[in-house]
Amino acid sequence: MCGIVGYIGEKKAAPILLDGLSKLEYRGYDSAGIATIENGELSIEKCKGRLQNLCDKIQNGEALQGKIGIGHTRWATHGAPSDLNSHPHKCSQSLFTVVHNGIIENYLPLKEELTVHKHVPFVSETDTEVIAHLLSYYYNGNVLETIQRVINAVEGSFALGILCRDTPNTLYAVKKDSPLIVGKGNGENFIASDIPALLNYTKDFYLVDDGDIVMLKKDSLFFFDRKLHPLKKEPFVVDWDYSQAEKGGYAHFMLKEIHEQQKAVNDTVSERIGEEDIVFEDFHYGEDELKALHSIRIVACGSAYHVGVIGKYVIEKLARIPVEVDVASEFRYKNPILQKDVMYIMISQSGETADSLAAMREIRKQGYKVLAVVNVLGSSIAREADSVIYTHAGPEIAVATTKAFSAQLAVMDMLALKIAHVKETITKDAYKEALMTLRNIPARIETVVSNADKVKKLASRLKNVGSVFFIGRDIDYAVCLEGSLKLKEISYIHSEAYAAGELKHGTISLIEEGVVVVAIVTQPHVREKVISNIKEVKTRGAFVFAVANEGDEEIRDIVDFVYYIPKTNPVYTPSLSVLPLQVFAYCVAKEKGCDIDKPRNLAKSVTVE
Ligand code: G6P
Repeated sequence: MCGIVGYIGEKKAAPILLDGLSKLEYRGYDSAGIATIENGELSIEKCKGRLQNLCDKIQNGEALQGKIGIGHTRWATHGAPSDLNSHPHKCSQSLFTVVHNGIIENYLPLKEELTVHKHVPFVSETDTEVIAHLLSYYYNGNVLETIQRVINAVEGSFALGILCRDTPNTLYAVKKDSPLIVGKGNGENFIASDIPALLNYTKDFYLVDDGDIVMLKKDSLFFFDRKLHPLKKEPFVVDWDYSQAEKGGYAHFMLKEIHEQQKAVNDTVSERIGEEDIVFEDFHYGEDELKALHSIRIVACGSAYHVGVIGKYVIEKLARIPVEVDVASEFRYKNPILQKDVMYIMISQSGETADSLAAMREIRKQGYKVLAVVNVLGSSIAREADSVIYTHAGPEIAVATTKAFSAQLAVMDMLALKIAHVKETITKDAYKEALMTLRNIPARIETVVSNADKVKKLASRLKNVGSVFFIGRDIDYAVCLEGSLKLKEISYIHSEAYAAGELKHGTISLIEEGVVVVAIVTQPHVREKVISNIKEVKTRGAFVFAVANEGDEEIRDIVDFVYYIPKTNPVYTPSLSVLPLQVFAYCVAKEKGCDIDKPRNLAKSVTVE
């Protein structure tokens, strides 16, 4: 969601801002804009639609002068996507100009107050414009004090890039509950929502904490806390470059990331699984504590929630303790009943999802510790959690997650095994064998992904269907949830996931000639049951695509198309069975000509609730 970039230095700001924004496109947006100051003159250019529209309008930035500026990609919340609602926004005297990621919840009363005091006119429907007017209303000649006053007055979440025409050699930034990082260059400094935006310019970064105010000059950086006390911050160096966040010859980031899954899982497991044990670096649970656990509660959103549901099956099977999985947006508002001897786990690729962050804070507020499974280093959830297991999936750019999902699954598998081992719910031999199986999963992932082209033909045949149902039982059902989400989010085909046994309780009324059913059949103990369910939908005219274990020849005669995955311990099949579903979604979306990496209305990092 909304991306922010800011620059101050010796070079022309506009092309750098546009380049930075292009690296944030993956976050999801519907309009873009930039502002620069040159010789005391403010220039703002913004427009609805793709960033390319803006680039064309201002000759890739060449048309805009100034060595200081801010840029923004907007994901509409308050007011439809339009040129007027696009950021940057300024106050009526053009004194302050801002870009904003987040939501100002009390913008209406603030707007009324500003109107009473003649800080008008408001030209947009956005909550952000209020900030620009508020800055000018509170301005006392000292920008830092003014920003401090503004952040004390606003409620909600924000990452802000701020320009003040009175101080044309200074860029300001501040954040609360929305992501923001600072990049340190040589004779130039930057702000951005995310690291990839700046990797073409620097590898040295600073994390900005909630309430921090940053003052950037071209040669120096100053950090202050909410009370304007100076802060000392240590930079960190990023060890990957932008090529890792580029398509590298693939047609789409999603396809590239599907192919990177073997590496993502390998990097996540290899260092942690030894001959005898699984070791997590930042994991503050002693053996006694693990032994005493009577349940586990997992909280997440989207695909990360699906990892939680799969994790529930894995943990319950291996460690024999009950697991509850909550959608973060529900959990945070239900006054959750929390207890001791429960392990609380947050799963998040970005580590910035607003609902997940709020849910985590609720758990910690009630005095319980949280283990976070996060991909983005130094993200808010990673920083605030008590323990962190990083997934080493690398930068994930496509909105629809694939490699981060697989890496999260691997973490759940390792965690389940570790707890099972400590609780002695599996034998020593079974434990050792499982360690070996997990170590071999990346190679099996590679086998499945390299054969997944077979799904292409099917995709071209099915691209025009109106509805797809995913069915499975046990852990296969949990994988169906993800398969269905993948398909609908990028191909815009209606799809639903059903526990196969539930079909008869309503959904089967929708099955008719031509409806597509994707059935996952990898769990031996319920195989016969799923086969019966497949026959039920076949009889009613459905076209069935099955994902089954190698060697299950019977399936071939029952369904219309079967994709075989290598046989493995049934508990670990989700790491393999999800792969053809990702490829299927990708191929269908491609056949339909959809914008695969940036599906409509979606955002990679959902930083507003
Ligand atoms: C968005 C993304 C999903 C992701 C979800 C949760 O909806 O498009 O791919 O699963 O947010 O994000 P998180 O970063 O917390 O895993």
